[in-house]
Amino acid sequence: MKTFHVKGQLRLSSIHVGESLRNLDKYLPSTQVVIVTDENIKKYYKKDFPDVPVITIGTGEGIKTLSTVEAILKELINYSCDRTSFIVGIGGGIVCDITGFAASIFLRGINFGFVSTSLLSQVDASVGGKNGVNLESYKNMVGVFNQPEFVICDIDLLNTLPKKEISNGLAEIVKHALISDESMFDFIENNKQKALDLDYDTIFKLVSDSVNIKSQVVQQDEKEAGERRKLNFGHTIGHAIEKIEKAGHGRAVSMGMVAAARFSQARHLINQEAVSRICMLLEDLNLPTTLDYPAKDIISAAGKDKKKQGSDLFYVFLEQIGKAKVEKIGFDELNRFIASVFN
Ligand SMILES: NC(=O)c1ccc[n+]([C@@H]2O[C@H](COP(=O)([O-])OP(=O)(O)OC[C@H]3O[C@@H](n4cnc5c(N)ncnc54)[C@H](O)[C@@H]3O)[C@@H](O)[C@H]2O)c1
Ligand SMILES: [Zn+2]
Repeated sequence: MKTFHVKGQLRLSSIHVGESLRNLDKYLPSTQVVIVTDENIKKYYKKDFPDVPVITIGTGEGIKTLSTVEAILKELINYSCDRTSFIVGIGGGIVCDITGFAASIFLRGINFGFVSTSLLSQVDASVGGKNGVNLESYKNMVGVFNQPEFVICDIDLLNTLPKKEISNGLAEIVKHALISDESMFDFIENNKQKALDLDYDTIFKLVSDSVNIKSQVVQQDEKEAGERRKLNFGHTIGHAIEKIEKAGHGRAVSMGMVAAARFSQARHLINQEAVSRICMLLEDLNLPTTLDYPAKDIISAAGKDKKKQGSDLFYVFLEQIGKAKVEKIGFDELNRFIASVFN
């Protein structure tokens, strides 16, 4: 097991990679504990949960709403939770994002922790303290920055994860390598089949390296005023693709990273060889790399982010494999680029 720390404004968060769900008890306070999980996780792992009340939510991005949060809050009241109670989210990114938000607003905030069960949530969603839900078609529109007390990344749980969810997680792992660690990129290239086969040591290293990169970036810039923006590599266009097709977050980010790599090439930051290397690795990890959508749909979907950012946006480019650079560009420049690479 390896432990990483993020010192947030409110508390120190400890992320334990390689710890087991079966040891969750060790991390819980002696006060009242309530678990929030989803139907899939309950089916596979309820037998390993500590003996405390369990709130079960549905699955899919469609349930990441304020009404699910409200239902959880009502159940917490039914269980007579108070300011000393503790909530544990056991699940993927959706369970963790919702649980962290519900805990952060219940009685103005009670303590919480996560057991991350999907590869994507282990390497991304559960590190960094962003918690929240969607509002209408706006993704993650409502939420808070608040660090969980602990995160357990139990690698063994990944064995029941559907194959396409493994690829979704691998996309974020490749993103971490691309923005900050060329040797990690080399490692993934040399171990791609082992990664797809969930070889324990390979996944343990990739989750650890990702958590290490993300926790260091978040430590420097918890509220995303600078360095943390680099973690959005591939996400501007990735989110736009996600809005027009339910591709899965990682798959959409894969195409978004190809677009961002080509945008970096168009700006003479990286060469064709680097772009090809990136595409080849993503394809070998069963991730899509074609930009086969109508440009006007991508432009309109990307434009919705204006709500968050105004007429300019911070776009993440690559200077080389392993090094990212953030630049403020206008939506007009982004739209011209999209029109040049999409249909
Ligand atoms: N807070 C953040 O910083 C952050 C970062 C990245 C993504 N996210 C959010 O995370 C969400 C996506 O997370 P996700 O990909 O984990 O999705 P998810 O939570 O929907 O999990 C994917 C699917 O796999 C199932 N599952 C999870 N673990 C399993 C296991 N061990 N065995 C069997 N089935 C399992 C789930 O029930 C679900 O059906 C999105 O809503 C995204 O916005 C948040
Ligand atoms: Zn992401």
